Amino acid sequence: MTVNRYLSGNFAPVAEEVTAYDLPVTGRIPAHLNGRYLRIGPNPLGVEDPAAHIWTLGAGMVHGVRIRDGRAEWYRNRWVRSGTVADQLGEPRRGHQVDERLDISPNVQVAGLAGRTFALIEGGIRPYELTYDLDTVGPCDLGATPEGYSANAHSLFDPRTRQLHSLAFLYGSDIVQHIVMDEAGKVVRTTDIPAPGNPYMHDFALTDNYVLVFDSPVVFSAAHLHTGVPFRWDGDRGARVGVLPREGGAVRWFEIAPCLVGHTLNAYEGVGGNGPEIVIDVVRHPEGFDIRNIGSSRPTLDRWTIDLRGGKVREERMDDRVQEFPRLNSRYTGRPYRYGYAAAVELYAPPAGPDDDRPDEGFSNALLKHDLHRGTTEAHEFGRDGAVGEGVFVAAESPTAEDDGYVMAYVFNPERGASDLVILSAQDFTGEPVARIHLPARVPLGLHGNWVPGEER
Ligand SMILES: [Fe+2]
Repeated sequence: MTVNRYLSGNFAPVAEEVTAYDLPVTGRIPAHLNGRYLRIGPNPLGVEDPAAHIWTLGAGMVHGVRIRDGRAEWYRNRWVRSGTVADQLGEPRRGHQVDERLDISPNVQVAGLAGRTFALIEGGIRPYELTYDLDTVGPCDLGATPEGYSANAHSLFDPRTRQLHSLAFLYGSDIVQHIVMDEAGKVVRTTDIPAPGNPYMHDFALTDNYVLVFDSPVVFSAAHLHTGVPFRWDGDRGARVGVLPREGGAVRWFEIAPCLVGHTLNAYEGVGGNGPEIVIDVVRHPEGFDIRNIGSSRPTLDRWTIDLRGGKVREERMDDRVQEFPRLNSRYTGRPYRYGYAAAVELYAPPAGPDDDRPDEGFSNALLKHDLHRGTTEAHEFGRDGAVGEGVFVAAESPTAEDDGYVMAYVFNPERGASDLVILSAQDFTGEPVARIHLPARVPLGLHGNWVPGEER
């Protein structure tokens, strides 16, 4: 039987760092694309107890492809060198040293801001800065506040105000902080939000005027510190959405059915029959969600409409297909929008029993495109064993529509035993990929990433 699904198949960590140039391409890379497609995930360096391993644990490894002038100039994968990772690799430690308890290699998100590259996690663990070529500079102070908070993995850049927003929690604290940074990453404002019980707040949402906070029954649990994921489901606790004015002030809370928001697709303000309202689209994990066994959940795409005058929330299921890692055209962050993209996760199920040794890859082999106006969903199937994770939307050069652009994702290619960076046309979503960039290695299924446009500074 499989010892641990997250150490085998397409989840299995890779053992080597690779650098390759001038990658072969099938199809044609859009000529205007100039930048890097980056994605990170856990890639543990040695696991003491494989049976107890949890997917989201282990040193972060970034996988990047540099694209320019229709060519794929390079592929690189690099561990993020925390002090411990540097020790394990037999290298000198990089940058200033942090408290040993917070010496953790970020593995949740990789993003660009003002020409810099950051690997991010959460819970007060410092982001790490990387070079353009993905080497580790060291821990950095992005979003760091005197109280010990720092930018979280799901920080949101508002293209209109050119500010970066983060909602940061600390392990064991009843306060979460809304942190606003300028375009250079300097903290310009913080607001403390009371969060009794220390709920797990992985993601949040923004609208023109509000920050939306999700308080769930998944709360800090010191008894689970030894597992590396110190949270548990508290069945006595409800769930609610908090609405905080962007400029600070008091949070107004609205009750919802117990659940955990895995990720936010988007949110925006509007006017309904009863007056002003806020619409929030989320990937919702149902009651009883086991945060240490993410594969046991059946998350769906749900819409919550908050009636700000009446104080009620209308809950709707937008798509009951099991899915995660929702993304949108980021130019529509916080605004009315029509399209969302997500990874299908229908194979994301626990083993049927101890003899169940199916090569369950966890993710499915499909990306989804939701048309939220028409209420329809298209699926791009990558074929047997074509495991795929998060897809990232990248706008066309002079877009004429919200979905005028591309969706990029690493996809396992079983014929080569390695991964491709696949570029789909978002408007011809089920058609042949625009390009497949053939990488020299397998990219394990991982967490989040971004298209980071631009040259090295
Ligand atoms: Fe996430």
